[in-house]
Amino acid sequence: MKKTTVYDCTLIELDKHHHEKGNISVVENGKTVPFGVERTYYLYDVPGGESRGGHAHRELQQLIVSASGSFSVTLDDGEVKRTFLLNRPYHGLLIVQGIWRELNDFSSGSVCLVLASHKYDAADYIRSYEEFLEYKK
Ligand code: TYD
Repeated sequence: MKKTTVYDCTLIELDKHHHEKGNISVVENGKTVPFGVERTYYLYDVPGGESRGGHAHRELQQLIVSASGSFSVTLDDGEVKRTFLLNRPYHGLLIVQGIWRELNDFSSGSVCLVLASHKYDAADYIRSYEEFLEYKK
């Protein structure tokens, strides 16, 4: 999926069940996300000023949610960059295949929840920006 662009990536409003005792948001395969969730992981205890990401995936699609706190995600398709501030637990950022991403500005105590379309595969990563630009040509 070389030809994807940052405009294929969108903020998705997740189901939010409001309750006086607290809220619940739900993600369902095939309904909320256009892929089956094969893996879930989360980033936490990110030191202030640290950035994460700095890679692209060949096939992996992800939905990124700020389960707590806030952080920014900058997407890059080799031509255009878009930055999203994630600061609501009922917003998910869909990142399609072939998009470079950087995660920055983590607030203290933030939790970055990632729902992913495939199991972990180191070979799916493109970790060199130069290689990414070549891949997108
Ligand atoms: P990485 O995806 O590079 O982190 P980030 O994009 O958040 O900066 O993952 C960091 C390391 O964690 C990686 O070298 C291997 C390990 N890892 C796993 O073993 N399994 C996983 O599912 C993930 C996401 C990472």
